[in-house]
Amino acid sequence: MHIGKHISQLDTPALLIDLDVMESNLQRMAEYTRAHNLRLRPHTKTHKIPALARRQMDLGAAGITVAKVGEAEVMTAANPHDILVAYPVIGPQKLQRLMSVADGRGVTVSLDSVEAAQQLSNAATRTIGVLAEIDVGLGRVGVQPGEQLLSLVRAISSMPRLSFEGIAFYPGHIKRMDESARAALVELGVLLTGIKRDLEAAGFPVKIISGGSTPTMYHSHEVAALNEIRPGTYIFNDANTVACGACELSACAASVLATVVSTAVKNQMIIDGGSKTFSSDRSMASSELSFGYVMEAPAAVFSKMNEEHGFVDIRAVDHTFSIGDRVRVIPNHVCVAMNLHEQVYGIRGEKVESVWRVDARGKLQ
Ligand SMILES: Cc1ncc(COP(=O)(O)O)c(C=O)c1O
Repeated sequence: MHIGKHISQLDTPALLIDLDVMESNLQRMAEYTRAHNLRLRPHTKTHKIPALARRQMDLGAAGITVAKVGEAEVMTAANPHDILVAYPVIGPQKLQRLMSVADGRGVTVSLDSVEAAQQLSNAATRTIGVLAEIDVGLGRVGVQPGEQLLSLVRAISSMPRLSFEGIAFYPGHIKRMDESARAALVELGVLLTGIKRDLEAAGFPVKIISGGSTPTMYHSHEVAALNEIRPGTYIFNDANTVACGACELSACAASVLATVVSTAVKNQMIIDGGSKTFSSDRSMASSELSFGYVMEAPAAVFSKMNEEHGFVDIRAVDHTFSIGDRVRVIPNHVCVAMNLHEQVYGIRGEKVESVWRVDARGKLQ
């Protein structure tokens, strides 16, 4: 219905994906991982669209990553050879559904407790790969390297229908790739090399060492022993990826097309998208509140949101906006913005080329 239309014919708010930019992001990552012999298992929580997961695999991804069993169920439509659930799967309801996902494809789970491993082993109807999660500084999930890790790996390896495959970690605390972050990555490589050596000396071969986020993506080869990365945001990037210096604005593929619906208050315009359209994720760029980057007016400050109202301070903008004008806003955090939209529009230039339902949105379980 929308394919072939000019974006001015779309109703708003609408999430647009610039296909030239997205394809260039995908291509660059495919080339990088190939050049450095890294397995790519992209996190699909960013796009939540099976057709895009398929593209990632067609470009050489070894498999895909999800956080939720519900996302894994949706992503089976992309026919992945392998799905990594990078999240502990706890409780019989989820585990039972996970076994259906594992029917006909490889499934790997990363986990950080003997309890999670035991539940997975009890539920498993076939062999499930397991990555032992370690904490490398984020302080979210993950055991400490050393004795805690060794006893987890020993437990995993002793349980029926579990296959210990290696180690997982998420370096979410490393955001800005300055000199100290790069030094931290080198140090992390030393840690991972030691972990691999110690586990293998104890009789547990470590096939996979899986980490990697979007901010650290193009520095992954500087982390010794790392052989798999799971960036998600890189497919679109967002205002926070720019803020942390991991990409230029020109590499942001996703924007929300919004309409100016009120200019009644001086120095301000209201656009027809607020927290239900963008999410409330704050900008990492500055202490000034900003909920997205207005492409048509970089000096504008998207300073406040209600559910359906976006408050844009236009004091510093050198032109005026009228009711009905449209702007494109790059969200701060594209993964959660995608979760709020039923469908998104792939555009080439200003023409709609694809319309995708965001099938894995709202998959909380
Ligand atoms: C476990 C895990 N792996 C990979 C990713 C992808 O990282 P990014 O969004 O920086 O690409 C995330 C993101 O939250 C994650 O939680």
